[in-house]
Amino acid sequence: MDLQIDGNAALVTASSSGLGKASAKALAREGADVVINGRDAERLADAKAEVEAVATGEVVAHSADLTEADEVAALVEATVDEFGTIDHLVTSAGGPPSGAFLDTNDEDWQHAYDLLVMSVVRLARESYPHLKEADGGTIVNITSRSVKEALDSLVLSNAVRMGVIGLEKTLSKEFAPEVRANAVLPGPHETSRIRELVEVAVERGDYDSYEEGLDDWAGSPLERIGDPMELGNTVAFLSSPKSGYINGTALPIDGGSTGANL
Ligand SMILES: NC(=O)c1ccc[n+]([C@@H]2O[C@H](COP(=O)([O-])OP(=O)(O)OC[C@H]3O[C@@H](n4cnc5c(N)ncnc54)[C@H](OP(=O)(O)O)[C@@H]3O)[C@@H](O)[C@H]2O)c1
Repeated sequence: MDLQIDGNAALVTASSSGLGKASAKALAREGADVVINGRDAERLADAKAEVEAVATGEVVAHSADLTEADEVAALVEATVDEFGTIDHLVTSAGGPPSGAFLDTNDEDWQHAYDLLVMSVVRLARESYPHLKEADGGTIVNITSRSVKEALDSLVLSNAVRMGVIGLEKTLSKEFAPEVRANAVLPGPHETSRIRELVEVAVERGDYDSYEEGLDDWAGSPLERIGDPMELGNTVAFLSSPKSGYINGTALPIDGGSTGANL
């Protein structure tokens, strides 16, 4: 299926690794020009080479810390400087640390809010003037299945990410009809985030080995962990006019592992 985004301009945040990188690859493979982002310059350069390998358009790397308002504004401005506009905004971010509620302090909560919610608020605000002028502007927020079902030892993710869903649903109305907004809710995918979470759980004594932890985290009716490109392909579809009537949804991509009926 031709996703009809050839030549469009996309900004994908937190895309030097994992789900953001997979989304950038899927958009670039479909012919979009893509700005990728992260903080670590070396990691970003490696990701740029990887995205370029599948791209037919341009790939530009821009370092920015998503918790800093001025850096987010500069990231959006750099995208417009490079490509003249933004047709597709895809927001990802690093994950908050795992742990129980009593292990968290005010600083942890503030950081999680800045990273997961305020980054999306600022990206949406800065990008909107460009998205609304695009012919089929889209926002896709990468969050977590934790908005549907609270996950053990992930209180920050369970609580704070709900704000992204409230924001996304609001934008799907306020920014319509020019711009569609959707969210994807990943279950376990094979990225450095899941490796880190399992390693910390082993250190905490939750599991005897990494393999035991991964088996538990990756449990789904499909009996496997997700390939990041499976999520990236869905993000590209949601950014495409082929999904033109999908707006304001929050789509689990979790192999069916979430227990909630809806
Ligand atoms: N993978 C999963 O199974 C899974 C499941 C559910 C939810 N999620 C969530 O999905 C999101 C992406 O996860 P992932 O698996 O792609 O993680 P990942 O592979 O660890 O990648 C995280 C990306 O975020 C960037 N990043 C982190 N903090 C940043 C900041 N302050 N400013 C800019 N970039 C930043 C990292 O680059 P730098 O460190 O160089 O900045 C990296 O590119 C996270 O919120 C995660 O919690 C993941």
